[in-house]
Amino acid sequence: MSAPVRFNLVARVLHWTMAVLIVAMLFIGVGMVASVSQRPWLIDLHRPLGIAILLLALVRLANRLRHPPPPLPADLPRWQVLAAHASHGVLYALMLAMPLIGWAMVSAGGYPVEMFGTLRLPAIVSPDATVYAWLRDAHGALARVLFLTVLAHLAAALFHAWVRRDGVFSRMARFGRRE
Ligand code: HEM
Ligand code: HEM
Repeated sequence: MSAPVRFNLVARVLHWTMAVLIVAMLFIGVGMVASVSQRPWLIDLHRPLGIAILLLALVRLANRLRHPPPPLPADLPRWQVLAAHASHGVLYALMLAMPLIGWAMVSAGGYPVEMFGTLRLPAIVSPDATVYAWLRDAHGALARVLFLTVLAHLAAALFHAWVRRDGVFSRMARFGRRE
């Protein structure tokens, strides 16, 4: 069987849906800690969106295991192949770690992990002020790592689309064609 030329439809739909959600979450998070008056509604949005990202990331990983990505161009320099694999690994790790740390942080603070309406998630960590402070620092620091990695990822995607023009961008971007 020949190798696929692009990511499957599920991977492409999840990639772009999650890209919008994750970039939005970075701004919602910063808005939440910057503005006391806007914090309540932003945090009410931040918690369920973050948990939705966690669930979508699990579906995405399962889909990736069943449908491995298409191979990168054979003439891509080795350091760029390594950089692509490493940065995608960091992005996947943070898509899972950020929501889990957020959930654990709210639990450790002793706050209810409210989703919407009366739906609440159980605490995954017992209330503890030291753990709360540590997780809060970790959530903020990893958010910065995520932001920088997304910027590098965006730059690399545009480098492929506009400079190398090697089809790497359309592996993820093309819709409406048969698989
Ligand atoms: C992909 C998922 C997530 C991303 C990208 C994200 C991003 C952020 C960012 C950028 C901040 C501001 C950090 C700062 O400037 O110090 C923040 C704060 C916060 N996040 Fe998240 N977050 C995610 C998931 C979650 C989840 C699932 C929860 C809880 C269920 C959560 C709870 C919080 C809370 C309570 C704060 C405020 C912390 C404080 O008071 O300083 N986050 N988040
Ligand atoms: C901001 C605009 C974005 C653009 C233009 C973009 C573009 C792309 C492209 C062209 C690929 C395919 C690379 C390849 O063939 O190896 C890709 C893969 C990927 N993107 Fe993005 N992306 C964006 C945002 C994001 C965001 C916000 C995330 C998550 C935080 C993300 C996570 C990933 C991951 C994990 C892969 C690898 C997929 C896999 O191997 O399963 N992307 N992206």
